[in-house]
Amino acid sequence: MSTQHDLIVIGAGPGGYVAAIRAAQLGLKVACIEKEPALGGTCLRVGCIPSKALLESSELFEQAKDGLINRGIRIGKVELDLPQMLNQKDQTVSTLTKGIEGLLKKNKVTRYLGHGRITAPGAVSVTNSQGQVSELTGKNILIATGSVPATLPGIDFDGDRVVSSTEALNFSTVPAKMVVIGGGAIGLELGTVWRRLGSKVMVLEYLDRILPGMDDELAKQSLKVLKSQGLEFQLGAKVTGVTLNRKTCDVHVEGHENLRCDRVLVAVGRRPNTADLGLESVGIETDKRGFIPINEAYQSSVNGIYAIGDVIGGAMLAHKAEEEGIACVEKIVTGYGHVNYDAIPAIVYSSPEIASVGATEEQLKESGIDYKKGSFPFAANGRARAIGHTEGMVKILADKKTDRILGAHILGPHAGDLIAEVAVAIEFCASSEDLARCTHAHPTLAEAVKEAAMAVDKRAIHF
Ligand code: NAI
Repeated sequence: MSTQHDLIVIGAGPGGYVAAIRAAQLGLKVACIEKEPALGGTCLRVGCIPSKALLESSELFEQAKDGLINRGIRIGKVELDLPQMLNQKDQTVSTLTKGIEGLLKKNKVTRYLGHGRITAPGAVSVTNSQGQVSELTGKNILIATGSVPATLPGIDFDGDRVVSSTEALNFSTVPAKMVVIGGGAIGLELGTVWRRLGSKVMVLEYLDRILPGMDDELAKQSLKVLKSQGLEFQLGAKVTGVTLNRKTCDVHVEGHENLRCDRVLVAVGRRPNTADLGLESVGIETDKRGFIPINEAYQSSVNGIYAIGDVIGGAMLAHKAEEEGIACVEKIVTGYGHVNYDAIPAIVYSSPEIASVGATEEQLKESGIDYKKGSFPFAANGRARAIGHTEGMVKILADKKTDRILGAHILGPHAGDLIAEVAVAIEFCASSEDLARCTHAHPTLAEAVKEAAMAVDKRAIHF
């Protein structure tokens, strides 16, 4: 006997569980299959949320240690209680993943615990950890299985000394020396956490810059700031392998001496998770990089089988997957659904944060689009001075002829929150003048966004 649903969602990460809830709101009878006991996927369990908890705790630790004296606050001896720091992170994760359980219940989404596998169009089997199998049938199937950490040829994760981001959230001691392979978001965030807690961290990046894809000017400034904080970098470093010794590891870099360290974090990207999904049973072929090809309705090559999030490629970001999940089920039910890929912000939660939305200068140049640029430094913002975070700037790019905002890039305090305003502006097709003429409260960091918009027209007041 199989259980009948209107929609079967495979995967309960931010893409899958949000799609399931939205579909239920729209009146569908929805099943959501997840193999992990905790819902929320990589983002909630072993990604965005736990890393943000550790970033916050490690920043507070660093501030308490040596950051508060000039504010007139003297603290006695500051000690690290790593087990409690990890415990606080785990509690945060547990509260949030249980919250999703509650949300699924509230929306009457049926949750299945086990591995989902497509067996035929409209049919999915769920195998639990005891090997028991449930058969589900549904008119529509949505694949939202996300991604898994990638590694390099010749480097295998051992889960202890050569690790992915998952294990790097849980080191039981602070490594004396840590090598991070990859200067992307994961490498910089987790490298920052362990540096603050006392590790000597070396980031090895293959390219001659960090944060590929982000605005070059901001990436350069970020590199300077991160270096000044004590993170070490070797750019143009091609890692070719890692040798495990009895207690240490040697990281091999082409043309350079080996680097000896205690732990290696491999953060060279993620790959789509399609293992044992049964794609072959329905004739879905993945592309060269393993992604599931889809059409504008997020439908795969098979009628009624859809895919969203990391598994279809594009920016591997939780909020992108959420938007796609909503758009996909809205299209199924109403015929309409929409994601504006020009207005998806991306944020690196270093300190200061690095945030970006829309086109970079490099992309505009490449596409031959004439643009105007307005920049405003946080050093000239009253609130940034008052809170003592004056590094970085806001940069706004607008079309030279129409003044329509095409992109914004922020390095600075709370950049991740500030970018939301520009994302909304882009979504509403605003001009830089629109943003510049909106009243921004004083004294706020958001005034730097307004001033950058004014600077597009060379009329910033405070710089
Ligand atoms: P990434 O693709 O952002 O960065 C990987 C880096 O590794 C690149 O700079 C690449 O040039 C470098 N690399 C590749 N091969 C190398 C080699 N042999 N030697 C040295 N360097 C090498 O990947 P990352 O940081 O692992 O993140 C995975 C995904 O998760 C990304 O799509 C990222 O956007 C997303 N993510 C987003 C976060 C955020 O928005 N805050 C946080 C964490 C992850």
